[in-house]
Amino acid sequence: MLDWEAIYATRAKRMGASEIRELLKLLDQPDIISFAGGIPDPALFPAAAFQKAYSDILGSSEAGQALQYSVSEGYGRLREWIVQRMNARGIDADIGNIFITSGSQQALDYLGKLLLSPGDTALVQWPTYLGALQAFNAYEPRYDRLDLSRNAAPQDYATAAKDAGSRVKFAYLSADFSNPTGECLTPMEREKLLDMADALDIAVIEDAAYRALRYEGERQQTLLAIDCARSGGIEKTRTLYCGSFSKTLSPGLRVGWVCAATPVIRRLVLAKQAADLHSPTINQMAIARVAEAGFDAQAEKITAVYRERRDAMLNALSAHMPQGVSWTKPEGGMFVWLTLPEHIDSAALLKESLKEAKVAFVPGNAFYADGSGKNHLRLSFSCSTPGAIEEGMRRLGALIGSELAAAA
Ligand SMILES: Cc1ncc(COP(=O)(O)O)c(C=O)c1O
Repeated sequence: MLDWEAIYATRAKRMGASEIRELLKLLDQPDIISFAGGIPDPALFPAAAFQKAYSDILGSSEAGQALQYSVSEGYGRLREWIVQRMNARGIDADIGNIFITSGSQQALDYLGKLLLSPGDTALVQWPTYLGALQAFNAYEPRYDRLDLSRNAAPQDYATAAKDAGSRVKFAYLSADFSNPTGECLTPMEREKLLDMADALDIAVIEDAAYRALRYEGERQQTLLAIDCARSGGIEKTRTLYCGSFSKTLSPGLRVGWVCAATPVIRRLVLAKQAADLHSPTINQMAIARVAEAGFDAQAEKITAVYRERRDAMLNALSAHMPQGVSWTKPEGGMFVWLTLPEHIDSAALLKESLKEAKVAFVPGNAFYADGSGKNHLRLSFSCSTPGAIEEGMRRLGALIGSELAAAA
């Protein structure tokens, strides 16, 4: 038998199994209340609108185009719709600044491919989106901790990289409702991040996957919009904005986009030509129609439901978590991030929880580039009713309470 391990490329060794993807399988077990998967509620998908869109497309003279190969940049009408949305947010993009991807996950992979040579440094938050780490890992980077609340000077990052024989290439982050914490960058942190990127002369990857899911508070400017205003237009920006229709319309159709300066868009197009030629034509056409017909109404509908679930989770946490446990109070997104006393390992807690409480969550260390963060856990409220959330938090609170009592 071939010794596969002996012939894998070095990059393959960095492709570890994802704890979270394994956990998604638990969603299928009916006796578990799962807060593990960070996925949209399928009951909220605009299925009728998609049924009409696909039927209209396939029943019209556009059927041939819909089933044909298409250009790597993406479907023009969809790119035009995105241009309008970006323009309305103070970004002077035109169609040449928009590139359609198969979900924003593909954008992260292509950007890793484009920007990272082995050993290059990527600045990421501690914790950060696990899927971004998976995407970047294949390009064998070194990670450093991006912490905007700390007083690290840009030079500190540059020096640390240099000492490791590396160079900083980009900062990756979600400015709005991060996965896993649900938190946003303040306006000051946004400026500070761009100041730092200017000083280091690096790119900024802005992951906007959850941006449309705001339940309260004022909408902040995107990093790309601030960058446009500071630098005098999109062609002079360093920010690569990764958008997605997954959390609003449908993740199954796999449609996302990058908005950025044209030179980097041209390179992304070449990456896509080599990888998959283009994202599925008919899906892009259907997304364009459904977005044109009612994106805002859909966003309003789902935010009302998710707001109620977020409120239910925050109320249930207050009611049931013992002293010593704290959590974030997100204004949007799908997640609440719990911090347990230092000595509690959330991976061990998960095992207990699945057995005793029949409650699933994601242990925190999955989201740390260095595997730390063991006393944190991520809860997603997107797919549970307020009743299930109350019951789940009651059981989890009781379990954590008994762990704390046992350790006291
Ligand atoms: C922060 C973040 N970015 C990107 C993605 C990828 O989403 P998609 O590829 O469906 O657009 C996800 C998915 O959960 C996410 O949580």
